[in-house]
Amino acid sequence: MSHKLIAFFVICLVAIVSSVELDIHINLDPTTNEVAIDYNNLLHKYAPNDQVFLGSKSIPHITLYLTDFVQEQIPLVQNGISQIFPLLNQAGKNCLVQMTTIDISAQYGMWLVQNNQCLQYLSDLVVNNTFQYITPNQTIPDWVYSLPEPLRDEKIAMIKKYGSPNVFDQFQPHVTLAWDEIDNLTIAFNQVDVQPTSFYSPSIGIGNTGPYGTVLDNYYGTFNFSNNNKNNNNKRRIK
Ligand SMILES: *[C@@H]1O[C@H](CO)[C@@H](O)[C@H](O)[C@H]1NC(C)=O
Ligand SMILES: *[C@@H]1O[C@H](CO)[C@@H](O)[C@H](O)[C@H]1NC(C)=O
Ligand SMILES: *[C@@H]1O[C@H](CO)[C@@H](O)[C@H](O)[C@H]1NC(C)=O
Ligand SMILES: *[C@@H]1O[C@H](CO)[C@@H](O)[C@H](O)[C@H]1NC(C)=O
Repeated sequence: MSHKLIAFFVICLVAIVSSVELDIHINLDPTTNEVAIDYNNLLHKYAPNDQVFLGSKSIPHITLYLTDFVQEQIPLVQNGISQIFPLLNQAGKNCLVQMTTIDISAQYGMWLVQNNQCLQYLSDLVVNNTFQYITPNQTIPDWVYSLPEPLRDEKIAMIKKYGSPNVFDQFQPHVTLAWDEIDNLTIAFNQVDVQPTSFYSPSIGIGNTGPYGTVLDNYYGTFNFSNNNKNNNNKRRIK
């Protein structure tokens, strides 16, 4: 092997081990978390090729910021979230999260969340205080190149600066319930008949990601909002 080739592999290896894709998200309250898992389980009956397995392989979540971070800088990401947590808590503990309808987009089946000021603020604040630790020069996905202008240029600029095409005015909160390239998700979701609901999130989590936009855990931290009364009241009302 030539020295150039060896150098190339070493660079690739360093690039692979030093970058970690993290998902910074809000978690669902216990009731809505169960509801999302139940919908996902039921969906598997009508869409047996769905590759999202909530509750067993991954966790329901609403992404605030998803990107690759430099591995050595993950402690700085965690510290960044801790530093701004008083602000995140203030906005998050009173933020009513309204789950609406299902949107089928390409292979994804997403339970849409009504965007509002507090969710937008949580995402903006998280991005502003952590993007300095992202992996530089992240790949622009092919689907971005097929978007119409001016959206294409806006998303490319976002990826270059923030490592994500879905921040600021492109933030579209949702809970992913399905990824399926075989079954007709429109027909399957009609059977599941997802109903609107709302909840107060208990926490912000930082977790590892799996395939198809899934989140595996809250491994890098769970930051609890100080809204336990609300969640308890909510649970009591439903029972
Ligand atoms: C995030 O940064 C942008 C650009 O610097 C700024 O306009 C915006 O007010 C910031 N938002 C928050 C919530 O920090
Ligand atoms: C990122 O890409 C730009 C333009 O291609 C280049 O100038 C810069 O050196 C790259 N930065 C890193 C850290 O690779
Ligand atoms: C899925 O089913 C719906 C309703 O029958 C139909 O309108 C749509 O074209 C189908 N989608 C695909 C990708 O076949
Ligand atoms: C956050 O809340 C969870 C669930 O209620 C609890 O298990 C955990 O101990 C809390 N963490 C902190 C740091 O308070």
